[in-house]
Amino acid sequence: MAIRELDKIPTKALMARITAELEGLIVTDADGRYIYVNHRWSSLTGYTLDQVKGRYVRDIVRNSRVDEVLKSQKFVSGDAVLLNICTNEEVPVYCSYTPLFHDGEIEGCFVYMIPKSEHTSMTIPPNVVTLMEALNQQLLMVQSHSTAVNPLDHIIGTSPEILKMKHEIVCAARSSSTVYIEGETGSGKELVAHAIHELSPRQNHRLVKVNCAAIPLELLESEFFGYVDGAFTGARRSGQVGKFEIANGGSLFLDEISQMPLTLQPKLLRVLQEREIERIGSSTIIPIDTRIISATNVPLEQLVQKCKFRSDLYYRLNVIRIRIPPLRERREDIPMLIDHLIKKLNFQLNLQIPGITPEAVKRLMEYDWPGNVRELQNVLERAMNLAWFEMLEWKYFSDYFNHPMYPISESPAVPAILPESSTLRRRTGAAERDILIQTLQECQGNKALAARKLGISRTILYRKLHIYDLI
Ligand SMILES: Nc1ncnc2c1ncn2[C@@H]1O[C@H](COP(=O)(O)OP(=O)(O)OP(=O)(O)O)[C@@H](O)[C@H]1O
Ligand SMILES: [Mg+2]
Repeated sequence: MAIRELDKIPTKALMARITAELEGLIVTDADGRYIYVNHRWSSLTGYTLDQVKGRYVRDIVRNSRVDEVLKSQKFVSGDAVLLNICTNEEVPVYCSYTPLFHDGEIEGCFVYMIPKSEHTSMTIPPNVVTLMEALNQQLLMVQSHSTAVNPLDHIIGTSPEILKMKHEIVCAARSSSTVYIEGETGSGKELVAHAIHELSPRQNHRLVKVNCAAIPLELLESEFFGYVDGAFTGARRSGQVGKFEIANGGSLFLDEISQMPLTLQPKLLRVLQEREIERIGSSTIIPIDTRIISATNVPLEQLVQKCKFRSDLYYRLNVIRIRIPPLRERREDIPMLIDHLIKKLNFQLNLQIPGITPEAVKRLMEYDWPGNVRELQNVLERAMNLAWFEMLEWKYFSDYFNHPMYPISESPAVPAILPESSTLRRRTGAAERDILIQTLQECQGNKALAARKLGISRTILYRKLHIYDLI
């Protein structure tokens, strides 16, 4: 059956068909967290979907290569792995890992396994490959529709700035005009773009994302407009559909629009004016009804002044402008965000951190958060791993703010930041890294043994290996 026909099969049914074809099977998100495991995997391991959903695979399965596959975005086949099961025993299995893509972005990983004794061949049957490709195309939809809540509920905050922004999102969703989102890094631009699309009448069509900074300049034009067979050397024989067409009826999210090359800007302007495209190598005009949502953390006005961005395109993009206030301009949202993020991370990391002390909240509110909500989330995740099951006290955060690698607040209200402690932190960090390397060598890479020797849990060991880039 062709993928296009499979497109019409509901995702659940697709999942069921793939499940029926294979043995143990899991699907992760782009961060390597479980979003799906099949019954056979549950029977094999003793873990149910509810027990693992949202947790990192690396915290459950030793030697899992999910993180590596998400990073390299390359298929790995027939890898021998010891699968930890809930009784602490290890079952030898063969694993195959397939990166899942959506519109060119890594969306997750598809892993299936076969008990080692039963099979030797790891070739995925062609019918399953077709099913998997169809699943790739639907995965994003599953994730975005799995929680039927108001998309505005994902945006945490009750400050006047956030309430104003939520109102602007609702107004933008009602219209079909072009939206321009401006906000510092980690402030929630992607979250806002999703909310606009999901609240709009276009919600049943695709929201297609193009990161203008991530695609090589020479490929950007074909990414946008597609091409026909023989359009240029190296072009696929079947041609390619461009993102504007894929997003027809839906929305096209142009992330990091400031990186749009000057040579391509007139072409984008033309599409916005004429509402039609031509694939490269073709003179057939294709009408398109795609709503453009663009985002940037570099204000385009500045680039226009420096002649790095066309003013006519800027005015076309900037019809509805939404500015996301940086976190330091809405510090009153920080306690609420902290509560929300602790709950979210407790679930994802399978921790039970009971909360945070008022002193720690107070001090976190004093920091300027140049990396905004993303930085806050990372800092909390780090502290939660240090605190393990305890209440989050300031002591679990202080080393972050003392670490020379991290941006340090100018705020005089955080006095613990001293150059001496930065040096100390760097030296203790280097010593810890050396100890980890040495212990792993002594244990011949056996992480369970290394964790035991170091007197820490395997989860903490994995976290540390990640922090020090040893995995
Ligand atoms: N108001 C908010 N409420 C809850 N979570 C938020 C909020 N703002 C941002 N986040 C979370 O912070 C992280 C970063 O958000 P997002 O990716 O949307 O930022 P961004 O502005 O697109 O960042 P970048 O400039 O790096 O692309 C995400 O995990 C997002 O869910
Ligand atoms: Mg973003």
